[in-house]
Amino acid sequence: MSFSEQNLLPKHVKIIEVGPRDGLQNEKTLISADDKLALIDMLAESGLSYVESGSFVSPKWVPQMATSSEIFSKLNKKAGVTYAALTPNMKGFEAAMAVNVDEVAIFGAASESFSQKNINCSIDESLARFAPIMDAAKAKGINVRGYVSCVVGCPYEGDISPQAVTKVAKKLLEMGCYEISLGDTIGVGTPASVSAMLDDVLTAVPADKLAVHFHDTYGQALTNIYTALGKGIKVVDSAIAGLGGCPYAKGASGNVATEDVVYMLNSMGIDSGIDFEKLLKAGWFISDKLGRAPISKVSQAMRAKQE
Ligand code: HMG
Ligand code: MG
Repeated sequence: MSFSEQNLLPKHVKIIEVGPRDGLQNEKTLISADDKLALIDMLAESGLSYVESGSFVSPKWVPQMATSSEIFSKLNKKAGVTYAALTPNMKGFEAAMAVNVDEVAIFGAASESFSQKNINCSIDESLARFAPIMDAAKAKGINVRGYVSCVVGCPYEGDISPQAVTKVAKKLLEMGCYEISLGDTIGVGTPASVSAMLDDVLTAVPADKLAVHFHDTYGQALTNIYTALGKGIKVVDSAIAGLGGCPYAKGASGNVATEDVVYMLNSMGIDSGIDFEKLLKAGWFISDKLGRAPISKVSQAMRAKQE
């Protein structure tokens, strides 16, 4: 019996690669559209079936994402891969549809203060802005993913109650999101706090409609993912090389690295459909473009072995 069977873990996990969006949005150095396109191609070639490739937000708020229309117009789409983008309002949704984005994500928060800082409106106002996106997406047959940010802690309010997360997650599900990604935006979660949060959310949203999105600020992301897998969640967001952070969450560091997640899953006999060598190369490519070592420990260790 394999490790995953002994421990009642899933046999397959779907990875949502958020590197080209969440990974790069916080980078001060502007990466060219061509380099982003090369990265997205490498990620898709490594076997990732879902690549969040940009966001249609205000370029004044997030300058790095200003290339999103160009990216989606030039994408060399690989069959079987979903190329998605964030859309905070109808303006963003229309811009995304103009360049044939496959799937969009709306992003709300469990914290009022973060909602204000991130998207300039209250939680209720954000849900009202999302409603016409849901209608338009339904009419066009476009799937919508929903994010809830600050599911454990908020940079402005501190601890967030599990009930506040459940409330927003349930609303997004009722509005028609096919999956809700629970974001520990500032990476403060631990197996204890994540477990309590998930137990509450699972009373309202089934495990097969949930994904987890951990930033790794305090180094707890992998163990938090392991906690989520044990509760039946099979979709994990991660960013190549461990890039990432939210410009409106001071101190938040990168997402958990895709390389670290795949290394852990492989060791447990859990399939993700990813070619590890190709994934590593994608991480080294973007890290070289950014002029620094990958944040992923696995990636660093594997590179050191090759040198
Ligand atoms: P606003 O200022 O309230 O919007 O911003 P507005 O409707 O009053 O418009 C103001 C200006 O923005 C106008 O331009 C609009 O045209 C423009 P101006 O007349 O001043 O030249 N505008 C837009 N431009 C491009 N695309 C749009 C758009 N909408 C308005 N869609 C808005 C509201 C949401 C646009 C703004 O607050 C914004 O762009 N915020 C950035 C949010 C963001 O990208 N945050 C990072 C992603 S979320 C995240 O990282 C968390 C996550 O990873 C999960 C986790 O980790 O927890 C998902
Ligand atoms: Mg994030």
